[in-house]
Amino acid sequence: MILQKLTVSFEYPVLFTERVFDPANKTLAETMAGRALLILDANVALRDDPAAYFKAHSIELAAPPLLVPGGEGVKNDLSFLRRMVSAMVEARLCRHSFVIAVGGGAVLDAAGLAAALVHRGLRLIRLPTTVLGQGDSGVGVKNGVNLHGIKNALGVFAPPFAVINDFCFLLSLPDREWISGLAEAFKVAIIRDRGFFDFLSSEAARLRSRDAAGMQFLVRRCAELHLEHARKGDPFETGRARPLDFGHWSAHKLEAMSNFAILHGEAVAVGILLDCSYAALQGWITREEFRSIHRAVGASGLPLWFDLMLQRKEGRLELFDGLEDFREHLGGGLCITFPRGIGSRFETGEIDLGAMEEALLQLRSGRDQR
Ligand SMILES: NC(=O)c1ccc[n+]([C@@H]2O[C@H](COP(=O)([O-])OP(=O)(O)OC[C@H]3O[C@@H](n4cnc5c(N)ncnc54)[C@H](O)[C@@H]3O)[C@@H](O)[C@H]2O)c1
Ligand SMILES: [Zn+2]
Repeated sequence: MILQKLTVSFEYPVLFTERVFDPANKTLAETMAGRALLILDANVALRDDPAAYFKAHSIELAAPPLLVPGGEGVKNDLSFLRRMVSAMVEARLCRHSFVIAVGGGAVLDAAGLAAALVHRGLRLIRLPTTVLGQGDSGVGVKNGVNLHGIKNALGVFAPPFAVINDFCFLLSLPDREWISGLAEAFKVAIIRDRGFFDFLSSEAARLRSRDAAGMQFLVRRCAELHLEHARKGDPFETGRARPLDFGHWSAHKLEAMSNFAILHGEAVAVGILLDCSYAALQGWITREEFRSIHRAVGASGLPLWFDLMLQRKEGRLELFDGLEDFREHLGGGLCITFPRGIGSRFETGEIDLGAMEEALLQLRSGRDQR
């Protein structure tokens, strides 16, 4: 036997700036050198002209910027993946070239997959333009698209070359998108950082009404927690536990059941509330802790309930099919993360579906408590 063992380490900067395409801003230019292709989320309002930026910094754009529709649609329709891949090949990008993806989490996920496929991996610079993108999805190593209604059924683990978080992008977000981004902050705070949860609780109303300093702190803390988690944990998810997917087994199902009318962050908000309701029933958090989470999530403007959660299919609660989808996506046995108190967590493979239904009904009866 020859036992092969490879150790590959990855390193990438996550930078924070404002007005990344202002020619006076050197952040992007100092991160890269060489040819680049720009992929743009069509809904992002650009304050500065990227073409002028690249010209000012003598960076060659290998092709005109490629505009793609923002939102889940870009992950649901494989023709967009194909278009991105084709643009990269036609522009003759090589492994030393750069794909600069500007957009929400969905565009970054799809563009990241395309960049990872071409020549087995181009250099990807992510410029996330949503709260979720800057604090969570954009700073991680996962890329992917959906297939047959299954979220991220097709994807790769591929760390980016760099991530640049430009706060100014967030200013053009519609309120609904701004607020939905708060859900992942609650998610990571509830399982990892009590102090951050207290911040979210006390600042919920201000964050909802677009307090800039609060949001800048939130994005940075969220990014730090996600990066630290991946650094110390299992970034390529070879094991079974996926703590950062707390609340996501039902969230992913709910998004798909709504035909993606419910935003990812909105689904995550009710997903974590459902699992917190279950955790309270099991005694892993107290009723008062559950109420404080429920209150804070509501005060931040996130949804507390969707009637779709009780939709039945062939007699059973369709939402609960999310558990099996989740297990399948991970492989092996089921492994779900729950809070144990606020700020810490544990994993379990045993879900009592009767108690989960009770948790669901209790969540519904509390839905009007804002
Ligand atoms: N890769 C990961 O680790 C990871 C983690 C969590 C979530 N995700 C994925 O991220 C996606 C959700 O991302 P999202 O919450 O950023 O939403 P999104 O990408 O769906 O964007 C939401 C909407 O806002 C628009 N938009 C984006 N930036 C804007 C801006 N600055 N101004 C105005 N409009 C803007 C988009 O075009 C879209 O219409 C989901 O597909 C989810 O599965 C990935
Ligand atoms: Zn998420």
